[in-house]
Amino acid sequence: MLTVTNLSHNFGSYWALKNCTFSLNKGEFLFLTGSSGAGKTTLLRLLYASLPVMRGSATVAGYNLKSLPARKIPDLRRQVSVVFQDFKILPYRTVYQNIAMALEVRGFSKVHIDRRVRAVVRGLGLESRINMMCGELSGGEQQRVAVARSVVVNPKILLADEPTGNLDEELAARMIGIFKQFHMHGTTVVLATHSSDIVRMHPEARQLRLEHGKIVAANWRGAEIFSDSIAEVHS
Ligand SMILES: Nc1ncnc2c1ncn2[C@@H]1O[C@H](COP(=O)(O)OP(=O)(O)OP(=O)(O)O)[C@@H](O)[C@H]1O
Ligand SMILES: [Mg+2]
Repeated sequence: MLTVTNLSHNFGSYWALKNCTFSLNKGEFLFLTGSSGAGKTTLLRLLYASLPVMRGSATVAGYNLKSLPARKIPDLRRQVSVVFQDFKILPYRTVYQNIAMALEVRGFSKVHIDRRVRAVVRGLGLESRINMMCGELSGGEQQRVAVARSVVVNPKILLADEPTGNLDEELAARMIGIFKQFHMHGTTVVLATHSSDIVRMHPEARQLRLEHGKIVAANWRGAEIFSDSIAEVHS
């Protein structure tokens, strides 16, 4: 479902990602950890073709990103949903409109859209906010709208960049529960997080830690550790 081989990325002379190699099967759940600046967002951006693959290779949902022409990027993004670290929701649209938009562009019927939007709004505890403008919501509420918009399309792969960063513990746990539900229905999830508490609560998930752009730890065999001095996450 997702294979990354010797993937590197530089911004000018700075290498934000260095020789990363790992693969995930359909339906796996991966926590991507590492301190600020470690390269998590860079890796996610490469995986949904917001940055070009220049060094190494990456295949996502059957698309070889190195040779993917720009006109095929929308096809990739129909399979891969993203929750951005900075939300990217529209402040002058309501919660309902922001979430429904993801389905409208895919051509679903109004009835279907209505049912799906209301279900995901309920799941994320946003019922009382459904007709409010997103610009009037708190940070945590906006974050939940961003997640709702990504999961409502039932993606094959869900990439989430710090989706619990603005949430209290209870909401964060609820949010992870939502990702888990999609995961149980076969969605492959990659979730970048700073929170070691969240990762600890899900020892069954795959874990990959980046440091200065390198994979320094992983808890399964599908990843190649750059430095063999650290064998396991949290060891
Ligand atoms: N567009 C860019 N231009 C130049 N440098 C960049 C750019 N994007 C990221 N970087 C640098 O690459 C490194 C990795 O950044 P990245 O955003 O991937 O880190 P991160 O692990 O997501 O951090 P955080 O946890 O703070 O979100 C950082 O040092 C950052 O300054
Ligand atoms: Mg980041």
